Amino acid sequence: MRFQDKVAMVTGAGGGLGNCVARRLAGEGALLGLTDLAGDTLAATAEEVRRVGGRCVQQVGDAADERTIGDLVAATVAAFGRIDVLCNIAGISPPIPIADMTRASFDRLMHTNCYAQLLAIQRIVPVMVATAGGGAIVNVSSVGALVALPRLTGYGASKAAVIGLTRGVAYEYAEQNIRCNAICPGGIETPMATEVVESFDDREAALERLTGRQLEKRFADPEEVASLIAYLASDEASFMNGAVVPVDGGHTAW
Ligand SMILES: NC(=O)c1ccc[n+]([C@@H]2O[C@H](COP(=O)([O-])OP(=O)(O)OC[C@H]3O[C@@H](n4cnc5c(N)ncnc54)[C@H](O)[C@@H]3O)[C@@H](O)[C@H]2O)c1
Repeated sequence: MRFQDKVAMVTGAGGGLGNCVARRLAGEGALLGLTDLAGDTLAATAEEVRRVGGRCVQQVGDAADERTIGDLVAATVAAFGRIDVLCNIAGISPPIPIADMTRASFDRLMHTNCYAQLLAIQRIVPVMVATAGGGAIVNVSSVGALVALPRLTGYGASKAAVIGLTRGVAYEYAEQNIRCNAICPGGIETPMATEVVESFDDREAALERLTGRQLEKRFADPEEVASLIAYLASDEASFMNGAVVPVDGGHTAW
């Protein structure tokens, strides 16, 4: 029960990883503020959290929109009085070869994958400091920030930006008792990974290109990534700040 009496905000809570993190944190006692662009899957996550006795408020909307984050922060504080944890999980990974990348598709990747995290941090840090005396932020980057992945160069660039953001936030807010860490997952068994694999004609070849360098020849179960997020968000990780942690089945080991 590492999150007893604590309040966590989770973006991308309707997605495969976000759903898992929301259930994991609720299972350890956290009260939750959840958001996602997709109202149906967000509602499903909220329902699952409540079914196991958890409590949450939810806000549908674009995580890169001021109103979404502002409304969720207000609703979360109104319901639970504080915010201790932010999990920045919302993201997109449209598979686009470099030659086909447009200004608009590149901007959309940077906006959704990096700017949305910055915006949430800007809005939530003052609330964390005022209501909880500090807090912990976990930003989801990707192994694609560390190594090349097929058709995911724009995605990798946006996730590399998340690493720069994470270190800067850790540095700038350390004196306010804020810790900020990033994780770099390899392929996770979620709708996102399925979309990338299915963009290739040859599914087996795609899987080989995406996971062939992993020592674990499979996609991660979302639980295997959620457990790292929960650790970094908890007080157990009190000496971790500005870290960039791969959870990639050994993809970057050699
Ligand atoms: N699945 C993988 O293989 C993998 C690997 C490395 C990193 N990641 C990262 O993990 C995170 C979670 O991805 P996932 O695997 O659960 O994929 P997913 O597609 O299941 O979930 C992503 C969620 O983000 C939401 N979202 C997208 N754009 C949004 C926006 N503008 N505003 C609000 N919500 C938005 C989607 O609606 C979806 O629910 C992402 O940041 C992703 O880049 C995933």
